[in-house]
Amino acid sequence: MISAVRADAFAEPAGQLRFTVRKAAMREIPAILDLINGYAARGVMLPRTELELSETIRDFSVAILGGRLLGCGALHFYSPSVGEIRSLAVAGEAKTHGVGRKLVEALVAEAERYELGAVFAFTYVVEFFGKVGFQAVERGMLPLKAWKDCVRCPKFQACDEVAVLRVLRTDRWSKAQGQPWGESTMGADEQFIRIPTPGR
Ligand SMILES: CC(C)(COP(=O)(O)OP(=O)(O)OC[C@H]1O[C@@H](n2cnc3c(N)ncnc32)[C@H](O)[C@@H]1OP(=O)(O)O)[C@@H](O)C(=O)NCCC(=O)NCCS
Repeated sequence: MISAVRADAFAEPAGQLRFTVRKAAMREIPAILDLINGYAARGVMLPRTELELSETIRDFSVAILGGRLLGCGALHFYSPSVGEIRSLAVAGEAKTHGVGRKLVEALVAEAERYELGAVFAFTYVVEFFGKVGFQAVERGMLPLKAWKDCVRCPKFQACDEVAVLRVLRTDRWSKAQGQPWGESTMGADEQFIRIPTPGR
């Protein structure tokens, strides 16, 4: 069984952990939930439920070392050309060993295989995302559907997350920007999603 890492887990210097990044398996859901919801309890991520994880497990990649979960992250599609990197989390003791970077690289490679024009994220760690090729953008550049999870966020009325974006294919991204977001896939009721109020 995959378990979360312990505080004394690593003695290796930064950057020298020989972990594997691969798609997640159903049996890893309990450890992924522990990791994400541990951060959610501290207000730095949205919580996830077992049902949500089961429904979206195919979005997830994991970083594994010796049967232990070091980190996870998900690529979620919003339109034929845009996806979100979300639920990105690295266990406290595995931080600064390149696990977050490798997870993002794997998710971006997946997005490229699906020929997405761009991937985005909402985050407090703008500097980390800058290191892995993203840049801060105006919230209005992102698809309305991307905000649907926000209504259950405790910070809905004072949102302090930053939207970051990495363009993968300028042709597909430019084309997507030229259209109202999600025009081809949204029902009339979905057009009226409330977006969070910036806390700044
Ligand atoms: C943010 C997070 C995923 C980074 O993972 P990590 O494995 O520690 O990051 P890496 O070791 O791959 O770091 C890659 C680069 O980003 C930098 N970096 C990592 N975390 C950073 C931070 N919080 N602030 C600034 N820079 C950071 C590293 O120094 C490294 O820089 P370098 O390439 O110049 O050496 C991890 O700290 C985490 O899980 N945080 C809590 C949950 C969270 O906030 N998730 C993001 C939700 S969108």
